[in-house]
Amino acid sequence: MSNLHSKIIGCGSYLPEKILTNYDIEKIVDTSHDWIFERTGIVQRHIASENESSVDMALHASLKALSMAELSANEIDMIIVATATPERKFPSTAVLLQNRLKIQQGFAFDINAACTGFVYALDVAHKYIQNKAAKNILVVGTEKMSSLLDCTDRNTCVLFGDGAGAIILSESNNPGILSTTIGSDGSYKDLLTVDIDSEFIKMKGNDVFKIAVKTMGKLAVSTLQKNNITINEIDWLIPHQANSRIINAIAKKISLSNEKVILTVDKHGNTSAASIPLALDDAYHNGSLQEGDLIMFEAFGAGFTWGSALLKF
Ligand code: UT7
Repeated sequence: MSNLHSKIIGCGSYLPEKILTNYDIEKIVDTSHDWIFERTGIVQRHIASENESSVDMALHASLKALSMAELSANEIDMIIVATATPERKFPSTAVLLQNRLKIQQGFAFDINAACTGFVYALDVAHKYIQNKAAKNILVVGTEKMSSLLDCTDRNTCVLFGDGAGAIILSESNNPGILSTTIGSDGSYKDLLTVDIDSEFIKMKGNDVFKIAVKTMGKLAVSTLQKNNITINEIDWLIPHQANSRIINAIAKKISLSNEKVILTVDKHGNTSAASIPLALDDAYHNGSLQEGDLIMFEAFGAGFTWGSALLKF
């Protein structure tokens, strides 16, 4: 493996205009703001309009990331889109995005690793740069989770939201991504899935919760060990935003103060593959993230899949 570094040089995000609060959901299904907030930390989520697709959302986020990176779309040589809610079965969301960016060079493809999709995409992008197979990669997480929701199922419809987040990962002389780890175990395929007939999300929430806490806790510890890093060196944990109780449990497991955890699940709900890049962009724009900060990403999702990344911003 070469010593070539890959670094995030731009980020951007997009959230649909429509906001659905817990109080709005109380009117649709037998639930309450208090139940949702206490069990998940969610207060509201954004919902895409009927004619707004995961490609539309990805385009908005990508243009912002390009602008921050001071790159034109012509300088992108690879696009990876992480999504479980593509606009079409094919062509891929990445190819549709390439077309919307009005570029024809390079190559583009999708990754589906459910809520871990963005970390999987980052792992792949990092390795392409290390292998000198690409220089400027657009990595996007975009989801229209509302298209998979049964609004009569209170176990799932209160949890998810729509949105997109994008980053530009570029070849660099300075360290950026320090390590990535990904994993999966398909024996859990039925605990969190999209029903083949109804095409709605079905989840055994409490089982998923327990395995998520255990897996992400272990992963956080091993990511620190693998990189010979103590918890005091970490500036920010940016975890997948599914449930604030899961996030608090991971922070506790690695003795990280809650002030160093980026939390957006209250505003965004669970946006699956979009949640980490959305949280990253939120933290950058509110002034929390500073150049040089050491960040850990951690994700867990259907499959099960899981992944982490350690990086210098
Ligand atoms: O993003 C990928 C990974 N996904 C996740 O990590 C999600 C993991 N799971 C979770 O976040 C949590 O399990 C949930 C938030 C989904 C559920 O919380 P929980 O503490 O595990 O609750 P539960 O499923 O054990 O249900 C407790 C009670 C049940 O009632 P009974 O059987 O005790 O009478 C449910 O029927 O809460 C009931 N319930 C609700 N009540 C009001 C379930 N959903 C709702 C609801 N409103 N929306």
